[in-house]
Formats: sequence, structure tokens, C-alpha cells
Amino acid sequence: MMSKTLNEKVFIFDTTLRDGEQVPGCKLNAKEKLDLALHLEALGVDILEAGFPVSSPGDFESVHQIAKTLKNTVVCGLSRAVKNDIEVAAAALKPAKRFRIHTGIGTSDLHIKYKFNATREEIIQRAIDAVKLARNFTDDVEFYAEDAGRTDNEFLARVIEAVIKAGATTLNIPDTTGYCLPYQYQAKMEYLVNHVPGIEKTILSCHCHNDLGLATANSIAGVMGGARQIECTINGLGERAGNTALEEVVMVLNQHKDLGYYTNINTKLLNPISHEVSEIMRMAVQPNKAIVGANAFSHSSGIHQDGFLKEAQTYEIINPAEVGAEDSKIVLTARSGRSALAHRLQKLGFQYDRNDIDILYPIFVQVADQKKEVKEEDLQKMAADYKK
Ligand code: KIV
Ligand code: ZN
Repeated sequence: MMSKTLNEKVFIFDTTLRDGEQVPGCKLNAKEKLDLALHLEALGVDILEAGFPVSSPGDFESVHQIAKTLKNTVVCGLSRAVKNDIEVAAAALKPAKRFRIHTGIGTSDLHIKYKFNATREEIIQRAIDAVKLARNFTDDVEFYAEDAGRTDNEFLARVIEAVIKAGATTLNIPDTTGYCLPYQYQAKMEYLVNHVPGIEKTILSCHCHNDLGLATANSIAGVMGGARQIECTINGLGERAGNTALEEVVMVLNQHKDLGYYTNINTKLLNPISHEVSEIMRMAVQPNKAIVGANAFSHSSGIHQDGFLKEAQTYEIINPAEVGAEDSKIVLTARSGRSALAHRLQKLGFQYDRNDIDILYPIFVQVADQKKEVKEEDLQKMAADYKK
């Protein structure tokens, strides 16, 4: 395994309340947003994107409330590269102890042609003007090059150089459509690191969407290419197939300490906050979701259960307590073996020897074949019948 002495911080920029809330049906009221913002601050996110203030009076008000309330987290507001957007974002964020204006514009040829009907030079000028204006309100300005994933690297480097000169301090390189492969996204970051003068004084940021299921892999690849911030959402909520899942990137960096990065996240709060987000946004988490899915720490096949019961690390790379999940579960199905059956019966207080289990096991398999899962009440009945 590769080993580095590096121990560098990766900033976690949470956008559950902005990109996450864009999901149809996930709209939150101001109180729900404020509660969630407080939990995200407790979780340890470094920057919290609270909303898009110009988009509605309700969003303005909730960004304003969050800005007034948070104590340690940098509160951020989104804007397009439009004068009014930036001024409204600044007004919403004003009461914050520390705030960031996030502004930007599409840089891919597709965006330039179809969204803006503009030239590359005009886009660069609009980007410069937006950043300069935002700098009048704060010295913490993040610029996003929308659709950077499909922007050619040479032009992207020109845009990024221009906005750094204009005062941008964080450079967001979004893979807006989830198009990139990890090696391409990593190479994009490396290209910027190697070709943009002044980039060493700024932070490069990953903002990945999950259209091809690569958002987590791309974000980690982006960090390996030189980025030091990841933009993400709880449960990977976001437009279409979603954004990078916060819990996943944090645990990848946590598990692979050999990569040499750490975050400020209190991992024990990952499952509680996942449940909270799922509940208030009315978006169920898929059971097989990494880290926070209901089955993330369940074992149901005989081979796995036997190994797990001998030594948990044979089939678990994360201790559920580390991510605030319930204890690992041994689920009984028709694929389960004798050791799992004995374990579950023992948990109910039945001390059976090998011989008893050999007799009970075929009965168990018959029940299991009729049911998706053999539950506690089924075991109680089996044990009661066996006594007779
Ligand atoms: O995906 C994207 O490009 C965005 C930007 C607005 C940052 O969400
Ligand atoms: Zn996005």
C-alpha cells in the first residue's frame, strides 16, 4: 500500500441545503433549514452553502437566519455571475461571523453557446466582473466554472487564472453533469495546479454529480490531483442522480489514511444526521447505501456470517459505532448457516449445543424458504416446539 507522510486537511463544503434541496419534493421551511444547519455545524462541516438567496424571498430569509445563528462554520450563498444575485447574496449573508459568496458561470462550449449565446472572451469578462464585485463584500469568494467537467483544460485554466487575479480564493471545478471518469477529473486538477499561476495560494474544490455513479470516486481523484475541498451533501442528495455523498468521501479519507488527508467531520454523527435528512426531506435512503444504508452493517449469507462471528474484521472494514450506526446485524435468511442460527438463538437466551443446532437447522431452513427473513418470533416458536 502506498504510504505518504502528508497529513493535509480536506475542507468539507456541505451543499445539502442548496444543491440537495433542489431535488423535487425536498423543499424545507426556514425552521427545518436552520435546525439542519445547526446539526451540520455540529457535524463539523467547514463551509455550509445555505441557499441561493436571490431565488426566492423564502431562501433569502433562511440564508439570513442561518448566517445570524451559526458560530464556527463559514456560511456561503450561491449566486450567478449577475450583479443583483451577488448583491442579494451579500445582503443575506451579512450577519454571519464569516461568510463566503459563491459565484460563477458556465465555461463549457455547450454552456457558452446555448445558455449564454456568448464568446469565450465575454465569459471570462463576466467571470472577472462577478468576482470583483463579490470581493467588495467579503475577502472569501469562491468561483465556480459550471460544467468544468466538459470544459477543455486550456480554456478552463485561462478562466481560473483570470478569476484568481480578480480575487477568487476558492476555485470550484464542477463536474456538473457527472460526466468525467476519475482519472480525467484528477488530470483536470493536475492540469490547473501545473498551469495556473497563483493557484498555490488558493483552494481547488471538487463538486461532482453522480450521473454515472462516480461522484465519490471523482471527488477522491480530484483530491489526489490537488484539490483540498469537497462539495457534497448528506445521503448524496442532489439534482438528478445526486451529488457526492458527504458520508462516503469522509469515510474514504478516514479509512485510507495512507492517502494522507483528514477532515474535521465527527464521523459518529454521520448516521444520526443521515436519518434526520432522510426524514425531513422525505427521501428514503436505499438499504444498500454505503455507510448509512439499513444494510450497510448487516450480514445474511452463511459464509459471511460465519467469518464475521469469528472476527468482525473479516467482513467489515468499518466499526458501525465509528459512524454512529446500530450494531452489526446477523440477518437470518435461507442463505444463513448454523453459526448464525446458534448466535441468534443464543441472543434470545437459548444455549444449544452442536447437536441441538444440527437438529434445529433443517427446521430453520424450511421456515426460511417460506419467508424472506426469519424473525425473532419465528425463532421463539422453533425453540418452544423443540422443548416439547
Ligand atoms: O453542479 C454545479 O455546477 C453547481 C454549481 C452551481 C456550483 O451546482
Ligand atoms: Zn451541483
